[in-house]
Amino acid sequence: MANSLLISLLQIYLLFLSFSTCALGLAKFYVVDLHDLTSKNVCSPPKDMEKIKSVKPTLKIVDRQGPCSTLHPAEKLSPEQILSNDQSRVDSIHHRVSAIAGKGTTSGPLSPSQITAQSGFSYGLGNYIVHVGIGTPSKTLTLEFDTGSDVTWIQCKPCQTYCYKQQEPIFDPSQSSTFMNVSCNSTPCNDVSGNFCEGSSCLYGVKYGDQSYTVGYYAEDTLTLTPDMIQKFRFGCGQNNKGIGDFGEVAGLLGLGPSSESFVSQTSDKYQRVFAYCLPALSSSTGYLNFGSNSDISNTNHIPITKRPNSGPYYYITMTGLSVAGDTLPISSAVFSNAGTIIDSGTTITQLPPDAYQALRSAFMKHMTQYKMVPGSSTLDTCYDFTGVDNMTIPSVSIQFENNVSLDLVHQGILFGTSRSQLCLAFAGNSDPNDIGIFGNVQQRTFNVVYDIPKGEIGFSPDAC
Ligand SMILES: *[C@@H]1O[C@H](CO)[C@@H](O)[C@H](O)[C@H]1NC(C)=O
Ligand SMILES: *[C@@H]1O[C@H](CO)[C@@H](O)[C@H](O)[C@H]1NC(C)=O
Ligand SMILES: *[C@@H]1O[C@H](CO)[C@@H](O)[C@H](O)[C@H]1NC(C)=O
Repeated sequence: MANSLLISLLQIYLLFLSFSTCALGLAKFYVVDLHDLTSKNVCSPPKDMEKIKSVKPTLKIVDRQGPCSTLHPAEKLSPEQILSNDQSRVDSIHHRVSAIAGKGTTSGPLSPSQITAQSGFSYGLGNYIVHVGIGTPSKTLTLEFDTGSDVTWIQCKPCQTYCYKQQEPIFDPSQSSTFMNVSCNSTPCNDVSGNFCEGSSCLYGVKYGDQSYTVGYYAEDTLTLTPDMIQKFRFGCGQNNKGIGDFGEVAGLLGLGPSSESFVSQTSDKYQRVFAYCLPALSSSTGYLNFGSNSDISNTNHIPITKRPNSGPYYYITMTGLSVAGDTLPISSAVFSNAGTIIDSGTTITQLPPDAYQALRSAFMKHMTQYKMVPGSSTLDTCYDFTGVDNMTIPSVSIQFENNVSLDLVHQGILFGTSRSQLCLAFAGNSDPNDIGIFGNVQQRTFNVVYDIPKGEIGFSPDAC
């Protein structure tokens, strides 16, 4: 009984239907059994780890609020809070990427939400965590995983100004025999965000778009990613840290961006600046993050990483088009090229140039007329009530990139929400056509996403976790 339950939990609840009568091409739809989504309040074992087990080290990635998470914060973030944090992050990315100084943010007032969180509904919320060890002896800490940040940081005793509440004991440098401060007159200190000296100690500071921040000493210590140990790994030892919802009570953040102080750059001798991850389809399933060559995973579509001066902590790629139910949408390529695109594991909802979003929205709505629309939630404006629906039928969505790469999203990459009475198209439109587009984490679900920085490319293969 338990076994068959597990098997049914592991199934992927989708099925392709083809309508060859469709004049514009092969229409594709997903039929999703909503009962299966609502019942999963237990953590499913990882799928097919065989494929990647020769690649070491491999960290598990889970949704920080889902049943696989080791964190159980007193207050969970509501979908509304997640979306509003997400919009703040998007605004700060736009602000940072914008070439014109002071062009500013694009956020407007957020509309009140109709979403009511329903526990156990398992389209996840899109904040992902991993576990690493820091110090000697090694202490296991839970970190947010972020390809759109450079500095890795953790909360650190004595928390001179403020540490938010975290689940694990706060890291105590005095208990680690390998802990050292980074000295002020050093290249890493010059390169770290917010570099500043206090006496001979190097200070770092990172401010996130949602008014979260972390400030403290720039330090180094041994980082353990079982079975590997990385000596003298540099990270922020946060003495003043504040985040909305206490960052979900994580101990800090693992920065996987491209610049010189990121984890990826610091470990380039060991892992050659190659890493891969798979974000789980649901909050009740498990993904992975691994470092070093990932050659056993084949059939990968490659997209060039676009070189940009002052790219900051972001990986730029080139999005070229969108399809709904197999039909390519009539969107001028200039719409995408004027805006540009980054890929970001820390942004939840994919942000499109306004014309691209409008085309997507109207094509999607045409295939959804049998369902009742309901008011939007925060940044999402195309929402449906599936109360009383057993199996919903939604059109497939694919995203096209440079090199003729087309990614067919899984259904968990198309809708977002935690309540059957309000599931929303998981895309948003930028308000300014020149603001950068962002390929967010909901849409990346279940792909093996390989970053090969020396080759200058990002590869995708489907159905990896
Ligand atoms: C690191 O620097 C801070 C601030 O100067 C100091 O309080 C702490 O004792 C230093 N730690 C070590 C191990 O040197
Ligand atoms: C819903 O889908 C499942 C699996 O695809 C199928 O077994 C079931 O008969 C469907 N239910 C309805 C009411 O269509
Ligand atoms: C993309 O596909 C088109 C049409 O099939 C083809 O003409 C073109 O050469 C392809 N480009 C690349 C980079 O593969």
